[in-house]
Amino acid sequence: MRNFNENTITDAVLDRIKNTSDPRLKQIFNSLVRHMHDFVRDVRLTDAEWAFAIDFLTRTGQKCDGNRQEFILLSDTLGVSMLVDAINHGSGGSTETTVLGPFYVQNPPEYPLGADIHGGMKGEPLYAEGRVLSLDGKPVANAIVDVWHSDQEGYYDVQQIDKVGGLSGRARFRTDKDGKYRFWSIKPAAYPIPYDGPVGEMLTVQKRHPWRPAHVHFMIEAPGFEKLATHVFVDGDQYLDSDAVFGVKDTLIGSFVKHDAGSGPDGRAIDTSYWTMTYVFTLAPAPS
Ligand code: BEZ
Ligand code: FE
Repeated sequence: MRNFNENTITDAVLDRIKNTSDPRLKQIFNSLVRHMHDFVRDVRLTDAEWAFAIDFLTRTGQKCDGNRQEFILLSDTLGVSMLVDAINHGSGGSTETTVLGPFYVQNPPEYPLGADIHGGMKGEPLYAEGRVLSLDGKPVANAIVDVWHSDQEGYYDVQQIDKVGGLSGRARFRTDKDGKYRFWSIKPAAYPIPYDGPVGEMLTVQKRHPWRPAHVHFMIEAPGFEKLATHVFVDGDQYLDSDAVFGVKDTLIGSFVKHDAGSGPDGRAIDTSYWTMTYVFTLAPAPS
């Protein structure tokens, strides 16, 4: 076959890939080719625009390294990450999910319940506590609860590791027999996603800001349950309705309450004002 034109080339490509052996892969390639070709026809893509797109994607790849994943940022800022999340994690009564983000560190240091994890990061003290439950309201004991968050200026420890002197505002806990977790840290602030690369350029031309509302990340795992990756957002944050990565859900907005200096919820003496936050997580059963 030869002499393809704009109306015949799509079927020619679909025919050429028809022997893809894995049926799921075949379905994905088929749909990708049809949608990409339709897109190009729809916008009447010019030679210059095609070259720009290739350069943009090339620079997106070149921006990636062990600490920076510009393709995930692109997916996040175009709403693709949250679309995949929405398709794969129906609520069904369990805690809603949201983006993982680029600042998760595998196997963070484990601390005893009640520990202060702020390390070298600065901010107003925060006491966070709550429970991990199954869908039928039973405590999930010994669940692994990973926590990470930004400081009062919106930076994660991994973005300023020398300044804060090691992993900070980040820890792993295990729930007690009642499914409870608790820890001290600091109240996180809103922050811009990294915008010094191609994704930042895109946000600029789209007249969008790069900010995410303040939040604490949680990742919770327990045998027999689906792993939960989510955030608890700080109520009242100015970016809750314009999160750069579309990650906010009403059910994930926590109530952060300010208290005067005195005695903390766990009896600890505290000489500045501080915040408390309580959040109960519900895990879905693992898919059988
Ligand atoms: C985060 O919450 O850490 C995050 C999520 C998506 C993009 C950038 C940061
Ligand atoms: Fe974050």
